[in-house]
Amino acid sequence: MKVAITGKGGVGKTTFSSILCRLYAEEGRNVLAADVDPDANLGLALGLSEEEVNEIVPVAKMRALVEERTGANNLNKFFKLNPQVSDLPDKLSKNVNGVKLLVMGTVETGGSGCVCPEHVMLQALLSALVFRKDDVVVMDMEAGLEHLGRGTAGMMDQFIVVVEPGARSVQTYGNVKRLAADLGVKRVSVVANKVRDEKDEAFIRSKIPEEDLLGMIHYSADVIDADRNEASPFDYSKETVEEIKLIKAKMDAKEK
Ligand SMILES: Nc1ncnc2c1ncn2[C@@H]1O[C@H](COP(=O)(O)OP(=O)(O)OP(=O)(O)O)[C@@H](O)[C@H]1O
Ligand SMILES: [Mg+2]
Repeated sequence: MKVAITGKGGVGKTTFSSILCRLYAEEGRNVLAADVDPDANLGLALGLSEEEVNEIVPVAKMRALVEERTGANNLNKFFKLNPQVSDLPDKLSKNVNGVKLLVMGTVETGGSGCVCPEHVMLQALLSALVFRKDDVVVMDMEAGLEHLGRGTAGMMDQFIVVVEPGARSVQTYGNVKRLAADLGVKRVSVVANKVRDEKDEAFIRSKIPEEDLLGMIHYSADVIDADRNEASPFDYSKETVEEIKLIKAKMDAKEK
């Protein structure tokens, strides 16, 4: 199972990603969680302390490694566009409650067409992840999908857009869908989060085609408390975990 989780800022991508990862880990699957957000906090949601999160160096900041693998340095402007990185997910990831967390970091691309060594490294690493046959790979992304090359995106089982019951985040779903089609993505599904009542449910159903809707997660005070206490929502919010189990079951059914 290989999925990228996207959506507008603050909709709950990291919360959903962390619980999904921990559910797969609980099942005994080998789970790789890639944090591809510049403001990396998937580690916290998986159960690390803030101190432990701050100690992690994102791959994009590992200068020596980037130089070693791409051959780029101050004297050498020419570097490999396909560095060998298949060993890195295991070497660089940190085990958090049975999930292998890989903090990627991001590179300021300053528009499209950037081919700096760090960017090449990240792309190579993301692409190495999708080749891991029986593993579960979950990428916690920003709304932008520019870090995924065509090849990588095309090998993901699906993109999941997390939305809130509001017009703006639903619009993001439309944008992702268009972008994903350009990238050759097979499937774009939606998870509605922070749903409060029947009115919210009706709004979501009126905007998202049924076949695209994986499920709904209700607004939960426990999720907020988990965040405030720097704890993993997986350990805090039973109802939310149950709702995400249903979503996962749907994903698994489609995997087969
Ligand atoms: N179902 C929910 N009920 C209540 N609060 C929630 C729910 N899901 C997420 N939240 C809260 O919303 C906030 C944003 O969640 P989260 O960090 O998961 O979003 P995100 O999409 O990853 O944000 P960012 O774009 O900043 O990476 C957090 O405070 C989180 O606790
Ligand atoms: Mg996030």
